Parts: sequence; C-alpha cells; structure tokens
Amino acid sequence: RVVAVIMVGGPTKGTRFRPLSFNVPKPLFPLAGQPMVHHPISACKRIPNLAQIYLIGFYEEREFALYVSSISNELKIPVRYLKEDRPHGSAGGLYHFRDLIMEDDPSHIFLLNCDVCCSFPLPEMLDAHKRYGGMGTILVVKVSAESASEFGELVADPTTNELLHYTEKPETFVSDRINCGVYIFTPDIFTAIEGVSTQRKDRANLRRVSSFEAMQPDPRILPANYVRLDQDILSPLAGKKQLYIYETNDFWEQIKTPGMSIKCSSLYLAQFRHTSPHLLANGDGTKKAGITGDVYIHPSAKVHPSAKIGPSVSISANARIGAGARLKNCIILDDVEIKENAVVSHAIVGWKSSIGLWARVQASGDYNAKLGVTILGESVTVEDEVVVFNSIVLPHKTLNVGVQDEILL
Ligand code: GDD
Repeated sequence: RVVAVIMVGGPTKGTRFRPLSFNVPKPLFPLAGQPMVHHPISACKRIPNLAQIYLIGFYEEREFALYVSSISNELKIPVRYLKEDRPHGSAGGLYHFRDLIMEDDPSHIFLLNCDVCCSFPLPEMLDAHKRYGGMGTILVVKVSAESASEFGELVADPTTNELLHYTEKPETFVSDRINCGVYIFTPDIFTAIEGVSTQRKDRANLRRVSSFEAMQPDPRILPANYVRLDQDILSPLAGKKQLYIYETNDFWEQIKTPGMSIKCSSLYLAQFRHTSPHLLANGDGTKKAGITGDVYIHPSAKVHPSAKIGPSVSISANARIGAGARLKNCIILDDVEIKENAVVSHAIVGWKSSIGLWARVQASGDYNAKLGVTILGESVTVEDEVVVFNSIVLPHKTLNVGVQDEILL
C-alpha cells in the first residue's frame, strides 16, 4: 500500500502571494479553475494501491474542511487535512504525524510540495524508486543556470542516478539540476528525521552543561523537532547510496507569486487538453464562437456570446462577462463583473471586483518581474474607460483614473 502526503504550509508562508492570500489559503487559490492543491491530489489517482492522501499544514482546519470532504467523495480515496499546532518544517511536519501515516502500513510514502506545478509523474517515479532500491527518490528537472539558485541544486551519478551532492539555494552555482519538491520514500525516512532531532537534542544538552546558553538561547539554533527536508535530510544523506533521482522533461514551475499563478494556470489548462478535456470550454473538439485556446469557464458563470475569451483564461463561479469583452491570459475569480468591451490580459481579477465599460486591465506578462502582471484584490472597482497597467491594487479600492507600474494600498 501507498500513502501520499501533500505539504501545504501555513498562513505565514504565503506572504509573497498577497493580496490574493487575504481571502483564501494559497493552496486553495484556483489554477485552471481548480484549487492549487487539487492538481497534485488528482495526480495521486494514478498511484497503484493508494490508501490515503494527507494534507499537512498549519492553516485552520475549517479552511480545508469543505474541500477535503468534497474531493474525498469525488476521488473515492480518503483525503484528510492534518493540522500542526505550529510549523515543524517540511520533514518535521511529516514526522509529527508518523503514527497516523503508518496506520495503513504503507510500503511507500509520496511527499509533495503543494506549491509546485508539474505533470507529477508519480507511478513512473514509484517504478524507478523500486529499481534503485534506496530510501528515497527525488523528482528532478533541468532549469536555466540563472534561475537554479532559487532552488535546491544537486548532482547525481549519470548511470546509477544516485544523488551525490545536494545544496539548498546555494550562493555559487553548483548544478542546473534542481529539486522539484516531489519525493517518494520508504518508511525509513522517519528514522532519518528522528536521527536529526536526536542529534539536535544531544547538542542542546551539551551546550546547556557547557555554557550559560540556557539563559540566553541562540535564535539561530532550530528547535529539535523543526526539521527541514532539504538542508537537514537530503544534504547529509547525499552520496550514501540512500537517495536517487528521477528526472522529468515535462513542465515544472514553482508557484510563489501571483504572477506565477497565471503561468501555472495556463500550464494546467494545457494539460487538461490531454487529461480532462471535459473541463475545457471547447474540450469536445468543436469550435465555439468567441473561444480560442484552452479556457475554463465555471458552469455558473455567464459569458456573453460576443465576448472573445482565450487563450489561457479561467473564469470562476458567478462571474459575468459582458458583450464584446476581450479576455486572455487571465484568472477571473468568483462574482466578478466585466462590463461591455472591457479588455483583461495578463491579470488576476479578485473576487467581486468590477471592470467598467471599455476599461483595460493589462500587463506586460513578464511573470518574473514584480509588476509584470496586474492583480486586483477583492472588491476593486475599475470605472468605465480607466486603464490599469502593470499594477497591484489592494482590496476595496475604486480606480477612476488610469494607473501604471504602481502598487495601490
Ligand atoms: N506542513 C508544513 N509545515 N509544511 C511546510 C512547513 C511546515 O512547517 N514548512 C514548509 N512547508 C511546505 C511549504 O508549504 C511547501 O509546500 C514545502 O513545504 C516546501 O517549502 P519550503 O521549505 O519553504 O521550501 P521552498 O518552497 O522554498 O523550496 C523547496 O521546494 C523547492 C521546489 O519547489 C526546497 O525543497 C527546494 O529545494 C525545492 O527546489
């Protein structure tokens, strides 16, 4: 049997995701019309003998209750949210719930970061992992040398695929092969995490007897049960024939900023074309007037037949799109109204916002720039004919004059 665990983090981790994380925990922000965490969860469907899916985080339980019960029914696989009382780190969080996870007596445990966007080749990883015979296998992708330092960089043996060297976000270049945040482990991972905790406790005891530190704890020293998977587990175990890599050539992105959520929404929409065409507005292959490329429209949304939608657009519940409106590369959230002939591109339009007649909400579409996409928070009103370009607008603002390259608080 196999168990999957998805690390969803908590409210303090989502700060780069503001103002969108004001309304909804980041893992539930919609990409391609589905909550972010829905994509790894539905990828788990392909794992043979999957017994359970756990989401581990430190958000309030009630924030996930509705989603978790509906997805359990839909997939016919139990999905449970487990709340940490405080952050224990990416490995510590897993260890915290070891007894529960081991109840199903799994032979293998998948561990997935919730804020990555990829094709999640999980059954393929499981096969490779069994062939290697190690304790863990890491999904790896090649990225540009310039961007590699944002991630865990690693070196592996090209023939055996053994992980030889691992450094988390190094200052000097090590490798353009990086850690995708998708892993499979045998239950021995718990022993490895326990080892780190025990070592920390021993060191703390030593310090206590040898100095006055007990009175003045060093803030750089992590608590014994706070264990990071990357620095504390992967780095020391590299080169010990316990960890292996599985390299993917498919798409892979990390979702830390609102801009990246537009990019990832579009990647998932493109994937739906192969995996879930029924979710796309023109998924049945017929040409629909006004729709180009991959588009998701929630069944309750009302789109005027003369509006031009796509490519890469996702429209959430109860949104209303007026005649002659033009939408591309954007995410339209619940209850938004876009009036006649308005234009929206490279933008996220927040819950209950309203875009006036002939207004334009646009951006350059540079997803890596701070202001490369335009983000409107909840209940923002853009009045008729107003142009908003490369800007972030916080909730409840009304714009009656044009803005460019601004953050409006
Ligand atoms: N439940 C829980 N508790 N989850 C946590 C905690 C915690 O205390 N700390 C982090 N997480 C979750 C985050 O929500 C995220 O899904 C994942 O664990 C990793 O988060 P970080 O530890 O903040 O690392 P990162 O996202 O900056 O980088 C990691 O992922 C990259 C791939 O996206 C590293 O492992 C990199 O090496 C890797 O390239």
